[in-house]
Amino acid sequence: MTLDDATLEAPLAVPTMLQPAERRLYLWLARDWAQGAGAIVDLGCFVGGSTALLAEGVRQAGRDGLIHAYDAFQISEELKERYLYAHGVDSFEGEDMLPIARELLEPWGDMVALHPGRIETHEWTGGPIEILALDASKTAETMDQMAAIFFPHLIPGRSVIVQQDFLHWKQPWVAVQMARMPDHFRPLARAPRDSVAFLCTAEVDAAALEAGRCAGLSDAEMRADLTALRKRMRGLGVGKLLRELDEAVALNPGRRGAAGMTVRPAGSER
Ligand SMILES: C[S@@+](CC[C@H](N)C(=O)[O-])C[C@H]1O[C@@H](n2cnc3c(N)ncnc32)[C@H](O)[C@@H]1O
Repeated sequence: MTLDDATLEAPLAVPTMLQPAERRLYLWLARDWAQGAGAIVDLGCFVGGSTALLAEGVRQAGRDGLIHAYDAFQISEELKERYLYAHGVDSFEGEDMLPIARELLEPWGDMVALHPGRIETHEWTGGPIEILALDASKTAETMDQMAAIFFPHLIPGRSVIVQQDFLHWKQPWVAVQMARMPDHFRPLARAPRDSVAFLCTAEVDAAALEAGRCAGLSDAEMRADLTALRKRMRGLGVGKLLRELDEAVALNPGRRGAAGMTVRPAGSER
């Protein structure tokens, strides 16, 4: 099946922060990679742009299945202006974007289950997970907590995770986490700007989660992990951006939250 503009038309009516290549990756994973072996989970769905792409993929494949979408569903005036009103969403009062997300996702009806609240306070009881999209790893601590909740349910040899912020200099811990679990996640593909998809290659047990924990790492440990990762990912065209992550750690010592990463690496275009 193709992945042309017509294929993407319905989900693109839902505002998204994803870039064109990332949109195609999400739809393709849900439609052409997934086999219905487990759930599809979207962590950090905003108003549902990524969720719509995943649901549309399942629909185009003619499968049944639920997309579980998680978010705090709180929005600032600045983000409303930039991502909603600029795309034709009517203006609304207050910070709660859950009603808008419900409305925008109506075309996919009961294919979508929305889970409002802080993701790290949820439990996962939905069985194996086949596709896991992560776009809410804004601090090292919450990323570790989300990994502990969802990673143990991945299916070795079948599940794909999309690390949406893998190459973003404000969240270097995302790449460090993958660097620390080399036997469990193998890089598969990059979708510019920042997404990298990984195949889960081994069951993520307690020892693997412990090895992958990032919140307590020193800057030196993070930088050593990023250097090792650069060697492992040679040939995938991400060397410059991985060097940026390393520089970002050096320029923002001790910072483990995206909001605190204020000093941009010199060469960064973002
Ligand atoms: C970059 S946006 C996601 C973009 C989205 N995937 C799309 O298609 O447009 C990140 C989202 O993660 C959510 N988020 C970040 N940390 C969170 C947390 N700990 N719990 C719940 N939501 C969180 C934010 O509310 C925000 O909507």
